[in-house]
Amino acid sequence: MAADTDIFSPERYAATRLPIEEASPLPPEVYFSQDWYDREIDTIFRTGWLVATREEELPNPGDYVQLNIIGEPLVIIRGDDGEIRALSNSCRHRGSELLTGSGNCRNITCPYHAWTYGLDGALRAAPSMNDALDFNKADHGLPSVRVETWAGFVFINFDADAVPLLTSLGSLVERLAPYRMEEMKVTKKWENRFNANWKIWVENSREGYHVRTVHRESLDTFYPGAVRSAFRPMGEPMVWACSSSDNENGLYVPRNATLPFVVGLSEEDRETTHFMIHYPHLLLNVPPDRITFHQYFPDGPEWTRIVSWCCFPQSTIDLPNFETDADKRYYPSMDLFLAEDKGICEVVQRGLRGRLPSLARYSPSEERTVHEFSNYVLDHVIGPDSAG
Ligand code: FES
Ligand SMILES: [Fe+2]
Repeated sequence: MAADTDIFSPERYAATRLPIEEASPLPPEVYFSQDWYDREIDTIFRTGWLVATREEELPNPGDYVQLNIIGEPLVIIRGDDGEIRALSNSCRHRGSELLTGSGNCRNITCPYHAWTYGLDGALRAAPSMNDALDFNKADHGLPSVRVETWAGFVFINFDADAVPLLTSLGSLVERLAPYRMEEMKVTKKWENRFNANWKIWVENSREGYHVRTVHRESLDTFYPGAVRSAFRPMGEPMVWACSSSDNENGLYVPRNATLPFVVGLSEEDRETTHFMIHYPHLLLNVPPDRITFHQYFPDGPEWTRIVSWCCFPQSTIDLPNFETDADKRYYPSMDLFLAEDKGICEVVQRGLRGRLPSLARYSPSEERTVHEFSNYVLDHVIGPDSAG
């Protein structure tokens, strides 16, 4: 693509670097270019903390989930020592994928020639290898990447030098402590594949500007009052961003819902839904009664796999009306909003094609968090010194 020859030139992004009152969105080619995408993977996804799963998905030794992320086959597995590890899911013999899906195993046995690894990734058995000179099983364990946990979330990081997870989370740790997310349990997961660049999904998730159009038909059906509520940008750019909505008439708490709020929340939190992002990979929505979050898996410049999760407190799940209320009043709105957001993200990806698109300006009142995100991307792909 000829246009890619200077795609990493800082001057090209000068209009996005301006204060939001003057700034323009990122140019369309960063949503298509393979070169740009490859550099995003290296500078954003291979350096940041990525959500792998929830701890309750792996309660026992030997529990595992397969995870294919940014082209890297991994398995997240709990060892006999209780530790959760992220191991390469590629056999050290000739590379076969080792485990698929999720489940429990006593050891990891390759389906091809039965090399067998412990839950910690150590190679334990390699049949018919006695004649191989200087072959030492201790040299051929499965590579691993860093794992750290917070509030029930299991994160991984490919960068051995990255700051600890809790440092990267900053004030989110204290801000969200009252929700006791570590006591919540996954009750439903959705998986979608979008024909759109991952940034289009994040940008869409960062603003409420589209809510009154894209979700026009659905919103008031589930969340009366939501169309009148305002998103207030808050937070700390480049660490996390948070938009909040006043819970007027129960925003993001469904109509006629009878499931309780988390006990012990402040008056402000009982009246607020927080829409947060921890860059680069956790989009977290926190109303007073549950959490929903989204993992996004870039799959080339024009495709993104999104896994969306809903978690409730165990005490809520134990209520006799839980399943009925969740099925009738909570999950259908997630189904619908995801379908509506998927649709509009794909429409945007299509609209950005060609050579004519030229993007004008951001709305300062509605898109401050989108502007922050665009600059976060530039800081990583181009470098922070290009600012200004
Ligand atoms: S590829 Fe795994 S044992 Fe041969
Ligand atoms: Fe939306």
